[in-house]
Amino acid sequence: MNTENIMKILVIHGPNLNLLGHRDKKEYGTLTLDKLNKRLRKCAAERGMELRIFQFNSEEKIIRTLHRHRNRCDAVIINPAAYTHYSYAIRDAIELIPGPVVEVHLSNIDEREPFRRISVTKDVCIRQIYGKKEKSYTEALAFLHDHLKKKA
Ligand code: DQA
Repeated sequence: MNTENIMKILVIHGPNLNLLGHRDKKEYGTLTLDKLNKRLRKCAAERGMELRIFQFNSEEKIIRTLHRHRNRCDAVIINPAAYTHYSYAIRDAIELIPGPVVEVHLSNIDEREPFRRISVTKDVCIRQIYGKKEKSYTEALAFLHDHLKKKA
């Protein structure tokens, strides 16, 4: 962990998540990305965690950001969105992160179209949390908090 003892967590939202609130509410819930991020910041602050949050629609920007932060954060929460199902490039970038990475999804990817049941990124993540709408993210924060505490 970094010297200040504040856990620094990188949060990456993948493509189309900028339009949360307009996407299928049954799958993704009603929160806009702004509101989701506010909840995450509150949840993180309560646990003494600091978040750097990004949303990108392109694979390249996700990969660049993972590279740039790989030695500057204690852990990563990533929702690769549709890239989950086919981006080996994002998988390889996740593999380069020294700390734990949690893959999250708002919807239950196991009970949707068959292509969503495949995650090419989950094997390089310490945990995959899905199907709980915004709670998938807050659960990931709580998990990482406990995990990093145990390792400290
Ligand atoms: C998603 C699930 C993906 O299949 C989809 O392409 C998304 C969002 C989720 O959070 O449930 O854009 O990652």
